[in-house]
Amino acid sequence: MDNTNNNKIELFDELGESRGFYDKRNKINDFTGKEWIFSTKSVIPKSYPPSFQLQKLRNQHGGQKPPELCAQLISTFTKEGQLVLDPLAGVGGTLIGCTLIKRRGIGIEINPKWVNIYKKVCKLENIKEEEIIVGDSQIYLKTYTNEVDFILTDVPYWLMDKVEKSKGTYKKFGEKAKGIYSEKSKLKSFNENAPKTKDEWRKLLHNVFIECYRVLKPKKYCAVFIGNMYYKKKYHLLTSDLTQILENIGFVLKGEIIWYDVAKKLHLYGINYSWIPSIVHQFILIFRKPKAENAKK
Ligand SMILES: C[S@@+](CC[C@H](N)C(=O)[O-])C[C@H]1O[C@@H](n2cnc3c(N)ncnc32)[C@H](O)[C@@H]1O
Repeated sequence: MDNTNNNKIELFDELGESRGFYDKRNKINDFTGKEWIFSTKSVIPKSYPPSFQLQKLRNQHGGQKPPELCAQLISTFTKEGQLVLDPLAGVGGTLIGCTLIKRRGIGIEINPKWVNIYKKVCKLENIKEEEIIVGDSQIYLKTYTNEVDFILTDVPYWLMDKVEKSKGTYKKFGEKAKGIYSEKSKLKSFNENAPKTKDEWRKLLHNVFIECYRVLKPKKYCAVFIGNMYYKKKYHLLTSDLTQILENIGFVLKGEIIWYDVAKKLHLYGINYSWIPSIVHQFILIFRKPKAENAKK
């Protein structure tokens, strides 16, 4: 017997408009079919407003993610009230995202400066503060006994030497160039103990994600922000390195979302003498922990 209709209920928004049909078998999120379609798009070509004290406070970090984008991802992989972990929390993009859509968040951040900024932002914005711990996730998570419904995080990188940057008045694609000068710029590090080499970076990610895997419920998702990069005359497919690390742990790669921040300024290197990509997008890799019987212990 076709029981499709028995499984579906129509949902309405606060104004009484139909949100479409919610399938009672939906174990992933609170979306109706109509809403679900948008969450599977592989490109998000969007900028976000400078909200939640971005200019005054969160900007100091340099790697902060828009809480509204985090909320969008969290709403795709959780239901209201569920628990979301960010083991590399920074100034709290994930945690503010949780608060915005009524999920519970727990964050771990090694640098107390970023934790203090997150707390200050919550006070100034008068929003609920999610749980945040100052500590090293590699150590703290070993003692964490709760199970989480979703992991949303954003990886740090290793400390890089200075690179030659062509800085001029190029701003956005299509704008006329008025001149070029070069400066030495250093890729920003978020804490003093950041990995010094790519191998140390791999080790850090392995140690953090092995604990993430343990605390994530089976069949649940883990989404990771990461950018590929051009460094020392070659392109580093960090998305591939990260996938290898997570697959070795037991995660299954389910897809990638490209976040193209259309308002992002170009990163200019080598203009007029060598071709170096101006990277204006990031990846959000989506992994899943297999069901219990197939999962690595
Ligand atoms: C890319 S940033 C995350 C930014 C964050 N998504 C936000 O919106 O603010 C990565 C963060 O991981 C932190 N970190 C690095 N190693 C860590 C560790 N072992 N344990 C906890 N946090 C760590 C860094 O200090 C940095 O703030």
